[in-house]
Amino acid sequence: MSTNRTFTMLKPDALESGQAGNIIQMILDAGFSIKAMKYTRLSEDQAKKFYEVHAERPFYGELVEYMTSGPIIAAILEKENAVADFRTLIGATNPADAAEGTIRKKYAESLAKNAVHGSDSDDNAKIEGEFHFSAAEIF
Ligand code: CMP
Repeated sequence: MSTNRTFTMLKPDALESGQAGNIIQMILDAGFSIKAMKYTRLSEDQAKKFYEVHAERPFYGELVEYMTSGPIIAAILEKENAVADFRTLIGATNPADAAEGTIRKKYAESLAKNAVHGSDSDDNAKIEGEFHFSAAEIF
């Protein structure tokens, strides 16, 4: 039985393009409820730590630079089977491969600027949610 929560970030390109409201509406329409939400900007240290798992990848520097380039919206979402269902809703990491009707197909620019993050496991959903929110900010 899977957990019922996942973690997402609307990335700088989604906010820059003015699509945050439409993306949040798609998330709500898909049956997710918001358990925590924050409009913020990652510091370089925060972005490096959040993406530590990618530290050895060639795109790590670009990823950290991009994720600190403007504000983001971070959120914890709840729904039955949240992690898997959210990954279906957002589509493939590269928008060129994303299915029709997914958030990335509609709103993402590129592999690097792919509009949204979605946790890839229940364990990471918990770690990532707690990275961004204190207990008092989670409902
Ligand atoms: P996400 O899955 O949210 O978290 C890791 C991010 O790294 C991923 O989204 C992409 O935006 C980014 N990423 C993955 N592969 C590449 C790549 N080859 N070049 C640039 N960015 C990438």
